[in-house]
Amino acid sequence: MVAQVIDGKAFAAKVRTQVADQVAKLKEENGITPGLAVVLVGEDPASQVYVRSKGKMTVEVGMNSYEHKLDVETSEEDLLALIDKLNNDPAVHGILVQLPLPKHLNEDLVINSIDPAKDVDGFHISNVGLLGTGQKSMVPCTPLGCLMMLRDHHGSISGMDAVIIGRSNIVGKPMAQLLLGDSCTVTIAHSRTKDLPDVVRRADIVVAAVGRPEMVPGDWIKEGATVIDVGINRIERDGKNKLVGDVDYASASENAGAITPVPGGVGPMTIACLLANTVTACCRANGLPEPEGLTA
Ligand code: GUN
Repeated sequence: MVAQVIDGKAFAAKVRTQVADQVAKLKEENGITPGLAVVLVGEDPASQVYVRSKGKMTVEVGMNSYEHKLDVETSEEDLLALIDKLNNDPAVHGILVQLPLPKHLNEDLVINSIDPAKDVDGFHISNVGLLGTGQKSMVPCTPLGCLMMLRDHHGSISGMDAVIIGRSNIVGKPMAQLLLGDSCTVTIAHSRTKDLPDVVRRADIVVAAVGRPEMVPGDWIKEGATVIDVGINRIERDGKNKLVGDVDYASASENAGAITPVPGGVGPMTIACLLANTVTACCRANGLPEPEGLTA
């Protein structure tokens, strides 16, 4: 079988159009412009690229973008004071603090100081608890993007065997909650899993989120399975810099029924879902009905 390619780039563009339509409606009918504040501490090059890209796309869908770039030496007190100000600013509907933070800052403390209603990353402990108990929450962007692609491809994923490789708070664990919510049978595999190839071979859906270049070979993939590759790894091959996923794309696409490429798969969906979460947060803050198809 040669796998169907799940085009995350095209799907993300569609989601951004839906977001832009909602933003236009909010402006026209309610006089409200959704606003997203992004906080970057320090000058990590990868984080700078992400933050720039987020700001650009926020403006492109018609929302207000507020960027706060702080010195790498910023104290916890000053960062918490900024978050408090954003929590109380009615023009700000979403707040994202770019991770990782410099070592002297307590990441958990900082994230949990964000108003959960404005926590568009879905990392606040309240949102984690709400998601885990099947209640309305803000949902982490990358797993939400994966879920949207799976629903779009399959219609229903109810009853399917899903294996997630990776147990991070940002992807693995919330992905498991979302797949459970859609009635999959869910396994979370990780570095200590016994016989990982055997576990993966049972899966109808494989979500790879470990951050190790091409660690999943094609012969671990069951014939016809759907492969969602969350990895974005920079490697050097034949003297050139290349982006590859956690799955060996060439061999996996011989067995899979459908697969997301890297780049152009999950990556573009993450920012699209961040914008979707900001619109959702804005609607909730104003007691307006939530847009359909943009939340879990
Ligand atoms: N750093 C890498 N990915 C993310 C993300 O999704 N959210 C935040 N806040 N920081 C990140």
